[in-house]
Amino acid sequence: MPLIEPDGGELVNLLVPENQRSASKSEAELLPKLIINEYHLQWIHILSEGWASPITGFMREDQFLQTIHFNAIRQPNGAFVNQSVPITLDISDQDYSRLQNADAITLSKSNGESVAILRDPEFYANPKEEYAARTVGCTHTGHPTVERIMKMGAQLVGGDLEVLSPIVYDDELDHYRLSPAQLRMEFEKRGADAVYAFQLRNPVHNGHALLMNETKEQLKAQGYKNPVLLLHPLGGWTKDDDVPLDVRMRQHDAVLEDGVLDPISTVISIFPSPMLYGGPTEVQWHAKARINAGASHYIVGRDPAGIAHPETGQPIYDPFHGMKVLQMAIGLEKLEIIEFKFAAYDKVSGTMGFFDPSRADDFLMISGSQMREYARNGETPPDGFMGEKAWQVVAEYYASIN
Ligand code: ADX
Repeated sequence: MPLIEPDGGELVNLLVPENQRSASKSEAELLPKLIINEYHLQWIHILSEGWASPITGFMREDQFLQTIHFNAIRQPNGAFVNQSVPITLDISDQDYSRLQNADAITLSKSNGESVAILRDPEFYANPKEEYAARTVGCTHTGHPTVERIMKMGAQLVGGDLEVLSPIVYDDELDHYRLSPAQLRMEFEKRGADAVYAFQLRNPVHNGHALLMNETKEQLKAQGYKNPVLLLHPLGGWTKDDDVPLDVRMRQHDAVLEDGVLDPISTVISIFPSPMLYGGPTEVQWHAKARINAGASHYIVGRDPAGIAHPETGQPIYDPFHGMKVLQMAIGLEKLEIIEFKFAAYDKVSGTMGFFDPSRADDFLMISGSQMREYARNGETPPDGFMGEKAWQVVAEYYASIN
């Protein structure tokens, strides 16, 4: 069974072919330079491997406007692909005056290493407050993405990217960073007839596992013979109080060792996108990018890409809007959305189960701060909340920061 088609029909690959790299690098040395930051680099990684197919570079103004106003971009044939989060390169007014007449710009790291060439640049004003409000639905600078956008340069520059070599991080996790093309090869090699993706940015507890294992059962009941799980933690920028990526990867490996998820039918890999905490807007991006990686099915539960409001402490987004929006989103029609209700610890059965409002008192919600509390006090969470080895990883991490 062929895998789902990438958006635009063909997976974008912005890496300069190996036999042309030295010529491109020589050219890059002669062009005007722009220093980029880590966040820009993560988006270059995303763009280079085609996670945002069919987009071929930092957004031009027409793409940016369609993204923030429609969450979708119209293709030359009239069809829409989903694109809910802007992928932009911001620059200062000084850099704008210096570069505004350039035909091509070399994007470099702060150590001078050339990363990519941006061709045919298009400059436009950065409407910061609107960018923030329409992307994360909030303008409070206590929201990390609002804070980031308000600190951006006053100009945005779009253009076509040529990436000079694969983006690597040398953090001993690069082997987990499979590109969409590599993931597609892996799913084909395994003979997957359905690929169900699970996006996450937290340690896996048995509630998450319940969603993934139930999905497998549902797919088997529908007649799929070989559904494969893409366990796909987000690996780009996250806020400081989220669990760091290296700890999460060790925790996820331990979940497989604990047998909570089946290692045979699971592919574990890192999704290199930064996090925006944009709720129902961002979850569309999370889903869309997985189409490009070959996923036919996407799991969504409670409050995807959610965050507490910096003042009230309450979830900014209605916890069930994410799944409702995904079902209706423009350009995601070909992706099957598998929805789940709120999973919590059921004290009666001693397992993670779906919350039953008729016996609300039987359920315990174990949050990140609650986990930290257990670790600080040298306690373990109730049996059935998380696999044993997986908890050890989490407990050691929280103990180390306390
Ligand atoms: S996210 O920012 O990557 O969405 P998280 O790692 O918390 O955050 O969640 C990963 C996925 O699991 C999302 O689809 C989310 O909706 C779902 N999820 C997380 N916790 C629960 C829960 N207790 N019950 C149901 N779904 C959940």
